[in-house]
Amino acid sequence: MSEKKLAGKVALVTGGARGLGRGYALRLAKLGADVAIIDRNLRGAEVYEFERALLTAPTVMAECEALGVRAMGLEVDLTDRAATEAAVAQVAQQMGRLDIVVANAGGGTVLFADEKQGGQGGNQVLDDVTTGTPSNTPEEMLTRVMDINVKTCMYTCMAATPFLKAAGGGKIVTVSSTAGVNASGTYHPYGTAKAAIIHYTRGLAQELGPFNINVNAIAPGIIRTGRLGDRAARAREVVPLKREGTIEECCGVVEFLTTDLSDYVTGRVILIDGGMVQ
Ligand SMILES: NC(=O)c1ccc[n+]([C@@H]2O[C@H](COP(=O)([O-])OP(=O)(O)OC[C@H]3O[C@@H](n4cnc5c(N)ncnc54)[C@H](O)[C@@H]3O)[C@@H](O)[C@H]2O)c1
Repeated sequence: MSEKKLAGKVALVTGGARGLGRGYALRLAKLGADVAIIDRNLRGAEVYEFERALLTAPTVMAECEALGVRAMGLEVDLTDRAATEAAVAQVAQQMGRLDIVVANAGGGTVLFADEKQGGQGGNQVLDDVTTGTPSNTPEEMLTRVMDINVKTCMYTCMAATPFLKAAGGGKIVTVSSTAGVNASGTYHPYGTAKAAIIHYTRGLAQELGPFNINVNAIAPGIIRTGRLGDRAARAREVVPLKREGTIEECCGVVEFLTTDLSDYVTGRVILIDGGMVQ
């Protein structure tokens, strides 16, 4: 990892309170960027033992500050467009600028344990793991999955664009999934939502290229986070590298896409999947 390559930059990570988003926030902080996190539950890491064990401070913001950068957190539901606009504007105002956006908030057909508790979390409550089919997706699931993936991503990118332009350029990383590339799985309607994010990313890259703003998507495969838990173990059977991926391995690609290493890369999708998608 390059030392403090992002000093003087401000990075926004959505869904940064736990899991992959927390990893991106810490990696950007290690690279010297000041970090803002927007999440609907800033204490979401408390829900899963895996996440609790990773935390080295009470919040991810405190973890970032311990790395010597400024950090802030806002608890906002990013499916609310007006609230998203206000939150992103507050980040730019409070931090003084905005250069990098990792639009990571999202999730599958799983109803998270902390959602069921109204955002409070708790050890005993388990996720509801469900899935629809392409020909039969319950309305509630369809709305929820499209909203938490497509809308949160689009609202965040739209709200951030004026500030990235004002900064003279920037980097946007959106978060798709191998499910958004490979339609052969059974994970619906999540795959449809993540495919939409790739399409949106390409369109946004076309529009923002002239403003020196790079827009790329990452598509992780099976990466162990608290949310995925032991469901990640099936990677041994379906991944050519014969193992699940790690948060740090995704952070490496985010580092590439948020630093000058990728200055001539835009409108692309990078799979982080151990070779799973053929
Ligand atoms: N873990 C994997 O294997 C994997 C694979 C492919 C893609 N992804 C994608 O990576 C991202 C992170 O996944 P993760 O495993 O770390 O999940 P996670 O549930 O641990 O983290 C998602 C975060 O997003 C937040 N969030 C969700 N909806 C929100 C909303 N409406 N407003 C604000 N915040 C919201 C949650 O509170 C949570 O902190 C997701 O977009 C997911 O779809 C993950």
